[in-house]
Amino acid sequence: MGILVKELGPGFGAEVRGLDLRMPLDDDTFAAVRDAFHRYAVLVLPGQALDDEQQIAFSLRFGPLETSISTIRTDRKRRVARPEISDISNVDAESRLLDPADERARYNAGNQLWHSDSSFKRVPAMASLLSAREVPPEGGETEFADLRAAWDTLPEERRTALCGLVAEHSIIYSRSLIGYRDFAEEERNALPPVQQALVRTHPATGRRSLYLGSHASHIVGWPVEEGRRLLRELLEFATQPRFVYRHAWHVEDLVMWDNRCVLHRGRPWDESRYRRVMHRTTVAGEGPT
Ligand code: OGA
Ligand code: MN
Repeated sequence: MGILVKELGPGFGAEVRGLDLRMPLDDDTFAAVRDAFHRYAVLVLPGQALDDEQQIAFSLRFGPLETSISTIRTDRKRRVARPEISDISNVDAESRLLDPADERARYNAGNQLWHSDSSFKRVPAMASLLSAREVPPEGGETEFADLRAAWDTLPEERRTALCGLVAEHSIIYSRSLIGYRDFAEEERNALPPVQQALVRTHPATGRRSLYLGSHASHIVGWPVEEGRRLLRELLEFATQPRFVYRHAWHVEDLVMWDNRCVLHRGRPWDESRYRRVMHRTTVAGEGPT
């Protein structure tokens, strides 16, 4: 089966058609998808009406999956059965719209800050696959920033100065930026700060990129404020419109991105009126950075 790959931006983002992910892919077709994924870092696959099992099966072709962070907490019922599915939605376990003031909705609002999934884990995520099950009629887009292009654009002497720096990442920190402080004791214990290289080399392409985002709090060995200033400045640089692809969702879109070299953020929508239900699978990384 030949797939059709259409570039969405210069070297970043591609739309992939001509395949049905409800069925197992043969090895050649999968290899073509994986090659496009490495090259473009964000793939949009429209018209994939997946259930959770099918989404998990396709995701597993890329490697072992993470379990959702919400499985740490045992005092609350999850809306989805499989631990490999992260519930990125504004509806509760009874499928009722969440009050935007609800603790779960406030937690999910953290997705509207630029970030790389699981950068707060010692072994951060390799890829995320987000399946649109219900989308609002307006708003709720997702934006993606190409950290490889940002790196390539930095002046040579700047790149030299950044190599070797290490950032501390913490989800307790990033959620505090939006005023969320409701982590349970068991979550705080399970989510200590971790250290990540600020510059990464992609194992498949050899391309270098920045590695940062809202979970990145400061630079190890530097005064905290100075490190925050640097991270803020680099984040602003890396998320300029020229490095960004904005995805407006349709139901049955599957979008996957490479967390090793892409930042993303959700955009707001009228949560008090409209449902937005997205199911995410997350492919685990191969080791610490
Ligand atoms: C995610 C995420 C943003 C969005 O699923 O990891 O950050 O637009 N989503 O839902
Ligand atoms: Mn995310």
